[in-house]
Parts: sequence; structure tokens; C-alpha cells
Amino acid sequence: MADEINKDHIEEIKSEHIEEEIIQHLNNPVTNLKPIVKEYLTDVKKVKKEGNKFYFSDGNAKVEVRVVSDEIIRVRLAPHGVFLDDFSYAVPQVDQKVTTFSLKENDDDYTISTNTVTCKVNKADFLISFSDNLTGLEMSKDASAMHWEENVEFGGYYVYATKECLPEENFFGLGDKSGNMNLRGRKFQNWNTDAYSFGWDQDPLYRTIPFYIGVHEAAAYGIFFDNTFRSYFDFGKENYEKTSFWADGGELQYYYIHGPHMMDVVKRYQTLTGTHQLPPKWALGFHQCRWSYYPEKKVREIAEGFRQRQIPCDAIYLDIDYMDGYRCFTWNKKYFPDPKKMIKDLANIGMKTVVMIDPGIKVDDNYWVFKEGKENNYFCRRSDDYFMEGHVWPGRCQFPDFTNPTVREWWGGLYKELIDLGVAGFWNDMNEPAVFGAGTFPNDVRHNYDGYRGSHRKAHNIYGMQMVRSTYDGLKKLMRNKRPFTITRAGYSGVQRYACVWTGDNVATWEHLKLGNIQCQRMSISGVPFVGTDIGGFSGEPDGELFTRWIQLGTFSPFMRAHSAGDTSEREPWSFGEPFTSINRKFIELRYQLMPYIYSVFWEHHRYGFPILRPLAMLEQEYVSNHYRQDEFTFGDKILVCPVLEQGATSRLVYLPKGQWYNFWTHELLNGENEYDVQAPLEDMPLFVRAGSVVPEYPVMQYVGEKPIDEVWLNIYYAGYEVNSFMFEDHGDTFAYEQDIYLEKKFSVKGDGKNLVIQQVIEGLYTPNYELYDYNVIGLPFEVSKIFVDDKEITEFNIDDRKRLRFKSNKNFMHIKVIGA
Ligand code: GLC
Repeated sequence: MADEINKDHIEEIKSEHIEEEIIQHLNNPVTNLKPIVKEYLTDVKKVKKEGNKFYFSDGNAKVEVRVVSDEIIRVRLAPHGVFLDDFSYAVPQVDQKVTTFSLKENDDDYTISTNTVTCKVNKADFLISFSDNLTGLEMSKDASAMHWEENVEFGGYYVYATKECLPEENFFGLGDKSGNMNLRGRKFQNWNTDAYSFGWDQDPLYRTIPFYIGVHEAAAYGIFFDNTFRSYFDFGKENYEKTSFWADGGELQYYYIHGPHMMDVVKRYQTLTGTHQLPPKWALGFHQCRWSYYPEKKVREIAEGFRQRQIPCDAIYLDIDYMDGYRCFTWNKKYFPDPKKMIKDLANIGMKTVVMIDPGIKVDDNYWVFKEGKENNYFCRRSDDYFMEGHVWPGRCQFPDFTNPTVREWWGGLYKELIDLGVAGFWNDMNEPAVFGAGTFPNDVRHNYDGYRGSHRKAHNIYGMQMVRSTYDGLKKLMRNKRPFTITRAGYSGVQRYACVWTGDNVATWEHLKLGNIQCQRMSISGVPFVGTDIGGFSGEPDGELFTRWIQLGTFSPFMRAHSAGDTSEREPWSFGEPFTSINRKFIELRYQLMPYIYSVFWEHHRYGFPILRPLAMLEQEYVSNHYRQDEFTFGDKILVCPVLEQGATSRLVYLPKGQWYNFWTHELLNGENEYDVQAPLEDMPLFVRAGSVVPEYPVMQYVGEKPIDEVWLNIYYAGYEVNSFMFEDHGDTFAYEQDIYLEKKFSVKGDGKNLVIQQVIEGLYTPNYELYDYNVIGLPFEVSKIFVDDKEITEFNIDDRKRLRFKSNKNFMHIKVIGA
């Protein structure tokens, strides 16, 4: 029957439409009632300019092309000529600085040019393309005109864009995806999903980051499809020559982001969606979590266990069982009779307490949070006005509408009591939103959407981000000028402004170690750089070897937290006995030694938008072979991390990018653009430092701030050419850096075979407590005759057993000269 209706209707439409494609979604219960007709833009009939916006029309549909900056251009489609309200949770402010732009009409097309990019709109077929002004290279081009289908059930349109996919083009990004780094040949869906024990290539997962990077002919560009509905991306899977993205509703709205380097694309994407704030420094330490540590005695025992064994740790987590019947913002008084005292005692040994808060609020008229929410109408409702109800940990629940600014304000204030008790960090989970049985909310649930209204189809993918936004903003107010520490499971582009993320419920297998490594890199280049995995795997049982290899990788995960499900064996860094405990300690200590470097990398992200983890594909996009290498990355610019991901491995093959690299452990100097077989016994993970780097180190501490720093180590890795590095310091837990109360020390290191010169320039207004520098010069190719620090000769120096030149100076130098004999 449906087929017959389709046929008749198709004939009708065929005669009406200039260009059309008819497809039948017979498997789709909604769309099989009516033929699905894709309507395409036809030819350009009208053009109008309004400031930095250009409107093109085919007489019916309209397209807006907006010059956002010299390198970013936004495109929007209004199928029947009326644009939706220009509102985005991802991009708080669209327009940036543009130097100049122009519109030109040619015989066949219109061209909009900025200083760097030219956007061409073809008159005859409305195809849009973007090219690089300098090289003339066409970066991205429509394969067919933008198109849409009416949505009979909900109103609005399914919207589609199809671009050419070049034979040698590869794709990266897209945030929370599992499987290989290179996305070529695969199709994805974005619909935030509670994906317990997810597998390789499972899709969708917890977050929606509809931003990808394309690379061809050694040049990169990005597309950010800012649409919160269920969306899809196809990178040459259905058709090898086409890349498409589409959504189940909303506007076809995307940003073209110019490169030509992948790093430029990511940095520019972050100018749209924001960067992560500087986290409190302690948040960069090691965190210990479990579902759940309770009662209080157990929490204290674990915290003390770290101190007794001298394994550094900054935070311990209370998962859902600390609550009274899983009611958020309450305590189970049987397990935790005096939370304030416990939190204070933990703080006294340098252990911060982080607690879980979920969105499901128990339906219980004797529970103050539920009562307040009910009285004030803060909970989500279905289309017919019934409350949205679903079962989560506490049983029957209702859910705050975090897309309502009033609700966000209320929710943010609920943290007051926990803050007063001394809780230091907050973990928002299950905010896809997850509902037992049903998976999530039904489509008809209504949301305020900051006054722009929408069903759950529109709000689903941003629900979690708005929850943690409300948490973050509330905490920021409650904590005055202190930096909040928040973690979220779900998110949408821009979530990095409010929280760090973890990859969700992974599994204790070697495959998941590999997967987690790729996931963190991918999140990092997708604009969400403060990310980590559940070290050891959430479900299942790792053996000592797997756990230790995971700790090693985790040492270089921006967020370093061990976590495990309640039905697994104990999972602390000492749970596997020796030699594992000692190796785990060694790596966690390394994390604390490298703290000034790690913190500086976070600053570089916050201030300049650099990703924290940088895959080889990003470091050398010009080598297509690197588009397939996915298990090595640099943390910041200086440290190359080559995790060991194979069971039983005692060595591994390592590719070193251009330049020269020092083996972190042996100080052996190796030339880049080569592969090496490197020793990797269990106690080592291959690490390399870029020649010419200055890598600062602190002494090992049991937690951030345990001891005052009175001396900083500067590890200087000799290079026979000039290399720049920097180090960032500030108070570590306030927003004073926004008022320039920070110190950015910029170093340049340059050797010429006979001498080594190190220069320092300082920016910012912060004065650290220490005065003493302990210099370690690694890899000097000459015998030392004299050393000068700002023209003052240093006579006390020595060469240690690892051939390091060591000397001290209690001055904030401007230049150092090491002169050869
Ligand atoms: C979810 C989280 C997990 C947490 C558990 C209990 O599965 O992903 O991290 O431990 O819920 O709260």
C-alpha cells in the first residue's frame, strides 16, 4: 500500500520539481507513510549583501554566506526562505575580526573573498566551494547542491550537504568516536548515548562533536556542522567520491574553517566554540575513583593507602553510593555520618573529594530537591504536558530542563551545601540523558532551549552540556574566584568551556587500551582536550601488566583517573603487588615531576587553542603514511609518547617525526623521519623529547602543593639549531590569570656545535616563590670550558654519570651561555 501511494505521489512531484531525487525509506516507520522527496537548491537567481552576510536565493530557498573571519565562513540554508533564529549553544558569538572581504560576480559564479579564502557560489547549480587564495587549491566543494526533505511528523526538514571526497583525502576529528583515527570510508551518527562496555567501532557514543578535518594534498580544512539534532557523517562510505553530512532536523548550518595546517583548523574551531579554562592545578594530578568507595572507613583507608605507600594522588571520588537512596545533594548518613569531618581530614592529607551528581531526581515529595523542582515547574514535560518520567539509579525520576536558564541558575545553587562541606570537584554523569530501559527521553519531550523552544529531538544532544554548564556556572559563583573542577560524560561542541570529560564505561582489555589511546587523541583534536579514560578499564578485570601499561598511557592523558565498576576486584595502583606497584608509582611520580610542563601545555590550550594531545597525522599531515599511524602522539609540543599497547611486549616500533629527538630515559639522540625498534620493558614506556626543548620539572610530591617549590629544574635538551619553549606559572587555583597575574617564561635554545645559548623573555605579572634554578643540559656535543648566566661566570658545575651538565643559579636569567673548550 505504502508503495502504491509512493508511486502516485512521486509522479506528481516529478512534474513539479526541476531537480529532485526520490528515495523510499520503507524501513522507517515515520517516513514510509509518505514518499520522501529530496528537494535541491536550483540556480542562483538573486544576491543581496548585508554587512558581512551575503544572501543567495533560487527564488524559493535562501542561502546565507557569512564572513566570520579571514579564515572562517559560515553557510546556512533556509529551505523556504525563512531562517531559524540564529542561536547556538556551541558558538556564543559568531562574528570575529575580518580584515577585508569582497563579492564579485563572474560569468558562471559569485565569489566572496577574504584575505585567505575564496568561497565560490556557482550560478547554474548552486554548488559552493572553498579555496585557498595563496595556492589556489580547492579545499572543499559541493558534489551536489544543499538539499532537504520535509518532515511530516514533526515539521521542519531533514537537511543534507554533500561534498566531493577526493581519492587521497583523509578525515579526522568528530570527537567521541571509537575505532581508527582516520575516518575515511566510515559513516557515523551523533546521538548522545549511554554506551556501557562499548566496543571498537560502536556508534554513537556519549558526545556529539559535529566537527571534522579533511586533509588532501598536504592541506587541511575543517567543517563544523552546528546542528544539535541527530546528525550523520559519511566519509566516502556509501559513495567513495562523496562526503556527506545531514541531520534529522534543524538548520543546515556549517562553518568552513580554513587551514592549511590541521593545527590552524583546530585553533580556529576553538575560536568559535571556546577553549577549556585553566583547571585548578590539583586537577592535573592523579585521581582515584571507584564505584563506589564507601563507607567512610573505606574512603579513609584508600586515601591513607596512597600516603603510606608514597604514591602521589590528589583526589578521591565518591560515586553514587554516598547519597541517600541515590538522591542528589543528600548523604547516606549510615555510611557517612560526618561528611564535613571526613572531607576535612582528607584535605589535611592533601586529598580532595570529588562527588557524583546525576540529572535524575527521585520522585519523592519528602525530598527537597524534588519538591523545589516540582513547585517551580523545573522538570521536563512530554508533548501532552505529562512529566517526563523514567527510571535511573534512584528509581522513578523526573529531570530538570537544563535548557532553561532559570533551571540552570537553580541547579547551580544546589551545590552550595556540598561546597560548604569542602567538596572540591563535581562529576556529572548519566546526562546523555540516560534512562534505564528506554535508553533516553522520548522525542516529544519539550525543552525551553533558552527561549528558542524545541522537542527532545533538538535538545537531546545538548542536554548534558547544559547540565554541566549549570554546574560550572553555579560553582563559579559559589566558589568566588576559585576555579571549579567539573567532569561530564555527555556533551556537545563547546562543552570544553565547562568541563573535562572521560571516555565512559570502557572495558579492561588490551583492545580498549588501544581504543582509549585513539579516543583521547581524537577528542583532543576535536576541541575537547581535557580528556581521559577509566584507567584499568571500567568493567572486567585487568591483570597487573595491563593495569601498569594503562597507568603509563594515563600519565600522558590530560585527565588521569583510575576508575572501575563495583563488581570488579580492588583496583588501586598497589592492587597487583610487585613489580607493578613500583612501576605504577614511578609513572605517577613522573606525572608530578612534569607538572610544570603539563600545566604549561594546558595554558597553551586555554590561551591559544592548541590541542593538548597531537597525533602524528597532525604533526606531519604532509606524509599520508602518518594518516594511518594512530598510537603515538605528542603531549604539547615537546614530549613524544609511544605507549606500549601489546600484551607481553618488551620493545616497540616507534616513528619519530621531523627533527631530532632524545630518548627520555637514555638520552640517546635520534634523527626524525625514521622508525626505530625501541626497548620497552614493563618498567619503561618509550618517551622522546624534541631536541632544543626546555622541559621544567618539580620535585616529586604526594599531591599538588604538598611542599613549597624552592627550586625548579630546567632540563635543556641541546640542539644545533634554534628551538623555542615556554613555561607557565601562576597561583594555580584562581582566575587571576585573566588579569595577567601569571608568568609566561619563553625560552629559546640554540647550539652551534661549540657554544650553547639559552635566552629567556618573561611576560605577565606573577612572581613565583622560588629563586633557584637547577639546570640540566642534556646532549652537549662539546666539552665545557665556561658558563655565564647574564655575564656572571658560574664556576661550580659538573657532568654527571648520564653526561648531563649540571649547575645552579639563583637568578631569573635573561641569557645563559655555555662555551665549549
Ligand atoms: C555510569 C558511569 C560510571 C559510574 C556509574 C555509577 O556507568 O559511567 O563511571 O561509576 O555510572 O555511577
